[in-house]
Amino acid sequence: MSPETHSLRKDYQITRIITGCWQLAGGHGEVDRVEAVNNLIAFHDAGYTTFDCADIYTGVEDILGQVRRQLQQQRGKEALTRLKVHTKFVPDLDALPRMDRAYVRGAIERSLRRLNCERLDLVQFHWWDYQIPGAIETALWLKELQQEGKIHLIGGTNFDAKHLRALHQAGVDLAAMQVQYSLLDERPAGNFAASAAECGVALLCYGTLAGGFLSARWLGQREPVEPLPNRSLTKYKLIIDEFGSWDLFQELLATLASVAKRHDASIAAIASRYVLEQPSVGAVIIGARSRAHLASLEELGRVHLTATDLCAIKTVLAKRHGPAGEVYALERQRDGRHGAIMKYNLNTRI
Ligand SMILES: NC(=O)c1ccc[n+]([C@@H]2O[C@H](COP(=O)([O-])OP(=O)(O)OC[C@H]3O[C@@H](n4cnc5c(N)ncnc54)[C@H](OP(=O)(O)O)[C@@H]3O)[C@@H](O)[C@H]2O)c1
Repeated sequence: MSPETHSLRKDYQITRIITGCWQLAGGHGEVDRVEAVNNLIAFHDAGYTTFDCADIYTGVEDILGQVRRQLQQQRGKEALTRLKVHTKFVPDLDALPRMDRAYVRGAIERSLRRLNCERLDLVQFHWWDYQIPGAIETALWLKELQQEGKIHLIGGTNFDAKHLRALHQAGVDLAAMQVQYSLLDERPAGNFAASAAECGVALLCYGTLAGGFLSARWLGQREPVEPLPNRSLTKYKLIIDEFGSWDLFQELLATLASVAKRHDASIAAIASRYVLEQPSVGAVIIGARSRAHLASLEELGRVHLTATDLCAIKTVLAKRHGPAGEVYALERQRDGRHGAIMKYNLNTRI
């Protein structure tokens, strides 16, 4: 069965399961570049031809550039026709007050070089602080580069409904918005998803596995204590704390396990399927360090949740405490628990 696809625009199709590459940036253990390239080619060959990275994921744009090179050398130019590489433009927090055209151009040209291409497929734009003016002007500079042919589609990441609408009204044709959306974090549901739909924006969702917490590996386990094994688990443990107690999280995992059993699938497949079936969701982005998880992506493609499944899941979700508020609002509080673990100036060398 070939993976499901979604059209972000008439001429632009992606797979509904996007292979996320943050896990190859070094915060999740040492990265063997040759092995990483071969793994990503295995995802491509299995039909998962859309990949997600960012200018701030150390070394990852270069790895994807090598994937492109290797596919072309080994299989010819034809092999590149289905490949889609989504990157992000994440200007440093310290650079926001002095943002200008040259900074934007420099960042985009650097991504083009690293990704070894003439036009970026999708650039997802991030702005750390709404209090610092300039987000709209910066997006309009991206639009100029789009008109020059250096960018195919523009998207955003982690903007809330108000700012998503403001970008749309300013004339930036946003094709996608990348946000955290999972069984543990439903902040994008409702008003945000409706605003996205009205503006023609598809949601590309990360965190659907909460860094691996939403999988059989954590079922029946004791609450972990810091330090956690990698950056994802550190980040998503904070989301579990917002969701409620570790016991409530375990109740959710046990419910997912019984749903998974009915479908002969994994907990991870059920967790991501739930998000894929929500309004406005175009795709889920699943972090991949190895091809070991490829088989469960196939399960995710074939499973469809029934009314009984949804009722069981929603009964547990009704007991959640949070996270509440707008998309990414908690994370924007730099002195709060979520904001304190972020790195704000990874692009300094533009
Ligand atoms: N825009 C943003 O602000 C933002 C933020 C975070 C992430 N992202 C993007 O989203 C992608 C996903 O990252 P995430 O942090 O949200 O992680 P995630 O997808 O929730 O979790 C990924 C982890 O789950 C485990 N996993 C993957 N498939 C599995 C399966 N089928 N069964 C069981 N476990 C499985 C893997 O752990 P093991 O490798 O240990 O097995 C993997 O590292 C990133 O790569 C990045 O592209 C964007």
